[in-house]
Amino acid sequence: MIGEKKVLYSGMQATGTLTLGNYLGALKNWVGLSGEYECFYGVMDLHSLTLRQDPPAFRKNARSLYALYVAAGLDPEKNCIYYQSHVSAHAELGWLLCCFTYMGELSRMTQFKDKAAKHADNINAGLYTYPVLMAADILLYQADLVPVGVDQKQHLEICRDIATRFNNIFGDVFTIPEPYISASGAKIMSLQEPEHKMSKSDENPNATILLLDDTDTIIRKFKRAVTDSEHEIRYDQEKKPGISNLIDIYSVVTGKSRAEIEREFSDGGYGAFKLAVGEAVAAELKPLQARYQELLADKAYLDARIKENDEKAQYTANRTLRKVQKKLGLTERIR
Ligand code: TRP
Repeated sequence: MIGEKKVLYSGMQATGTLTLGNYLGALKNWVGLSGEYECFYGVMDLHSLTLRQDPPAFRKNARSLYALYVAAGLDPEKNCIYYQSHVSAHAELGWLLCCFTYMGELSRMTQFKDKAAKHADNINAGLYTYPVLMAADILLYQADLVPVGVDQKQHLEICRDIATRFNNIFGDVFTIPEPYISASGAKIMSLQEPEHKMSKSDENPNATILLLDDTDTIIRKFKRAVTDSEHEIRYDQEKKPGISNLIDIYSVVTGKSRAEIEREFSDGGYGAFKLAVGEAVAAELKPLQARYQELLADKAYLDARIKENDEKAQYTANRTLRKVQKKLGLTERIR
């Protein structure tokens, strides 16, 4: 708790460009939360280093992610939006918590196994301890709630296990975070293989809508979306995953229910429906893209918010870090 409000913590890796899936599944839902919660959102650049990054592109991507958070509607004066690497407490607590995490636990992480299989030439220790750094992110801010998708649930579980283990030895140091399940969060699937989640690392460019794609590109990608050989626009995730995904996307963007959408397109074919989804998505993203360009052009504004929020994050994080260091018996600084 900070004051009367519960603390909510989340973030995304600063790698590549965000997709429509990141936006509709996470970012868009974060926007409404700042009134009710004290919100911290990290640009998770330290986590990105578990894969090789090209330094200039990486720096650009991190700033782009910061601007996209703001362009999507997260007010940087009401939410603490900051760079993970600007708050050194993350790396420090990450180390300390490594000493309270077992190899066996980390070996069971499905994301580690998946990523190790995918990047067999670079199975580094950072990839292995990734969940410990993520636990440090969350615990430094004494977060009560963490909005995460299903793919991050196991990471939140290990965070809770580490925090509970630490508290059992040293007393009430960390708040044990709960997953935050949003009412409207949508899981957006690939446009080419609708059985799989839309992912920014997909090699097929037609599978993902990028947040910065222009209108023509968006419409073209939806036109090419994989569906089925029927003609009926009906929600059925098992038998019609492609059409169901399009219905979900259209539903989140327009606010219409699945049933309403089925009725609206009951006598149109797939072509007309795909076009409608493409146009609706393009219209939804237009203002965000315009705001994004404005933000990148206004260096002074963005830099001022980054500086302010870095300091706010440092203050909160250092308070927890000092407490942990003291509990562990590390010698206090001489003032
Ligand atoms: N691992 C998360 C992802 O890839 C990103 C992340 C890092 C995160 N630290 C976090 C998410 C802390 C929530 C809380 O999506």
